[in-house]
Amino acid sequence: MLSEKLQQARAFEAQYMPFLAPEDRPAFHVTGGIGWINDPNGFSCYQGEYHLFYQYHPYSTNWGPMHWGHVKTRDFLHWERLPIALAPDEAYDADGCFSGSAAELPDGRQLLMYTGVHRVRQEDGSIHEYQAQCLAVGDGVDYEKVEANPVLSDRDLPAGGSPLDFRDPKIWREEDGSFCAVVGNRTPDGSGAVLLFESGDGFHWRYAATLDASCNRYGRMWECPDFFPLDGRQVLIVSPQEMTPVGLEFHAGNGTVCLLGRYDRAQRRFTREQVQAVDYGVDFYAPQTLETPDGRRVMIAWMQNWDTSACKPQGARWFGQMTLPRELTVREGRLIQNPVRELEAIRANPVSYRNVMLHGESNLQGVSGRMLDLTVTVRPASPHSLYHWFKLHLARDGEHETVIRYKPECSTVRVDRTRGGFPHDIVHVRDFLAAPRQGEIKLRVILDRYSLELFVNDGEQAASFVLYTPLSASSISFEADGSVLLDVEKYDLLAYEGCDGDGR
Ligand code: FRU
Repeated sequence: MLSEKLQQARAFEAQYMPFLAPEDRPAFHVTGGIGWINDPNGFSCYQGEYHLFYQYHPYSTNWGPMHWGHVKTRDFLHWERLPIALAPDEAYDADGCFSGSAAELPDGRQLLMYTGVHRVRQEDGSIHEYQAQCLAVGDGVDYEKVEANPVLSDRDLPAGGSPLDFRDPKIWREEDGSFCAVVGNRTPDGSGAVLLFESGDGFHWRYAATLDASCNRYGRMWECPDFFPLDGRQVLIVSPQEMTPVGLEFHAGNGTVCLLGRYDRAQRRFTREQVQAVDYGVDFYAPQTLETPDGRRVMIAWMQNWDTSACKPQGARWFGQMTLPRELTVREGRLIQNPVRELEAIRANPVSYRNVMLHGESNLQGVSGRMLDLTVTVRPASPHSLYHWFKLHLARDGEHETVIRYKPECSTVRVDRTRGGFPHDIVHVRDFLAAPRQGEIKLRVILDRYSLELFVNDGEQAASFVLYTPLSASSISFEADGSVLLDVEKYDLLAYEGCDGDGR
């Protein structure tokens, strides 16, 4: 039985989504049907297809009572829109179906675990928002919330854990068939922790251990944890609120942190060994991963930032998009990210140059556009010549541009989208460290109309940025202070418009 709230949301989407032109959206990045989206949810493989749900408020381009939107794909690029999966229609989730995840049950049904939120006014007039973990079961299209909801609440928390900040379960199945989930929770010191819960059948859950805690070192509340083995290591990803900057590694506000370590499953003990930022751009938060049938760990994130999310173009009907899914690996103690290899199937019109001598500024014939996969490798023109900086100007016309600058003297990359078409003076510039490899720096840029994702040195650093630049600003140029040699490889990326006929 579909609740009235869910039917209403589905009807709203069906009525108004057709007014949104597909060419005004990214071509292969996920956006919501209409309205606002934030975190990716339930990113998982189900019956041979990849499903992605997302935090969704269809009724406006602002955050509101959270629903779960739903899309699926076979290739991470062409997404088929499915009916809205969850609405906040029960007492225990009346104020939102917050983030969560999905897994396949042994009987072939799909299990969703999400945070149900309900607010209660306190005696002193303040409002407390209680958060508890809930389940819904379905067939890949329609879902029914279970009678026993919520299945994890304040009574399941370790001593001192706050029931007001207890959210974002990420579930997975272990090889023995049992289920595990990591959930973010606020600890008595005011910062965050990641709790591990276990279940034999996916329906009955118990607290097992606290895997790691911020202790006020890496931000405060830890949102949206993910936990998985990768290349012989164990990865814990969290999205902390209220981060404080540390050099060029972490920036202020909401960030995403990767804790690399080892996991002793028998003891439920995670030992943290290295800590790094996941993405050095402005727009990246709350990532989630899945494992593909061929064993790849693929991550997708909300390509936005809470602190800048009030800034949107006049008249926008949709807000928020996901990153391109990225393949993760671990190399030399670092998390490495590269666009999914499926992207190669939509590349067209290759243009390539080798050893172009650049001094000053220049364009290259055939290299322009706003939907492309561009790799530029930069090295000094001779072993003895130094250059002070190299700049790649993108999405450019007389008025607009976004600039990627590399400075070899201090091994820093700067991305500056100040002139990227934004109506407000929000954060537009990020700097981060990137060491050259054999004297070269390799910048791979993916543009999809309203975003720029940068991968440095085959994924050692990634940086994501939303752009609001008019699509007519499509020129690209190269500039160096000093003499450099460039290799350039460019592909246009093909749009999928109209494939699923839903005006995505
Ligand atoms: C992270 C987050 C989650 C929460 C959701 C609400 O962006 O704050 O912790 O579940 O968004 O929409």
